[in-house]
Amino acid sequence: MSAPLSTLLWCRGGSEFSRAAADHVAALLERNPEAVIALPTGQTPLGLYAELVARAAAKQLSAAQARFFNLDDYLGLSVDHPLSYARFLREHFLMPAGVPKEHIRLLRGDAVGIEAECSDYEAAIAAAGGLDLVILGLGTNGHIGFNEPGSDWSAQTHVVSLSPETRAAHVAQTQGEFAIPEYGVTVGISTIVAAREILLLVAGGAKARALAALRRGIPDPKWPVTALLTHRNLTVLAEAELQSAATEGVIAPR
Ligand code: GLP
Repeated sequence: MSAPLSTLLWCRGGSEFSRAAADHVAALLERNPEAVIALPTGQTPLGLYAELVARAAAKQLSAAQARFFNLDDYLGLSVDHPLSYARFLREHFLMPAGVPKEHIRLLRGDAVGIEAECSDYEAAIAAAGGLDLVILGLGTNGHIGFNEPGSDWSAQTHVVSLSPETRAAHVAQTQGEFAIPEYGVTVGISTIVAAREILLLVAGGAKARALAALRRGIPDPKWPVTALLTHRNLTVLAEAELQSAATEGVIAPR
């Protein structure tokens, strides 16, 4: 089965990319101030978060009525650990944007009884009325959230074993200061594709192969991002620098 991408927007990197992503989120908040949104971690969305925070400070938008979840975290880390994705999101977006605590539910990677945490998390998403928007980054191996190549596309929130490629990328990002956990916990692909809208952010040259896999238009479990091809409201925002590499069609999957 193959399907065309819903919308693919090319953007110059830096502030143009961040503004385009923020415009997308702002438009949703305008239509639905109480939107339920799942957020990614990583270098890619940092500009988006800075832009949203600046717009909130300038009273051009408000995220205070929206409800927020995150996509993933490392297993075993407290939400205050420097590597924790929960901490990252609180620091870079949720607190400076003025989102009240009661509108935030983040995965607890160190929960005692992680299976119960996973099902509680799914229940919280369902109780919020389901996700209006999932914002995604992209792993160099095509992962979304922490859904690694070969993931079960029917899975909901679950524990995952992180691939060597993913762990190596994260070691580089932390300058080796912390040991990268072997496991993560992630919203599953079925939870992601159940969202009413998806915004995929693709930036950085290392993403060319994964983006090319998506652009081939063929769902392939080796490239988890291709699970999004079946979604009816997918927007891909990609850095223009990736355009030639991702369109040549010569980038073969591993
Ligand atoms: C991690 C996260 C993903 C994120 C990816 C890309 O693996 N689990 O959710 O999308 O990194 O990160 P970056 O934006 O830093 O390239």
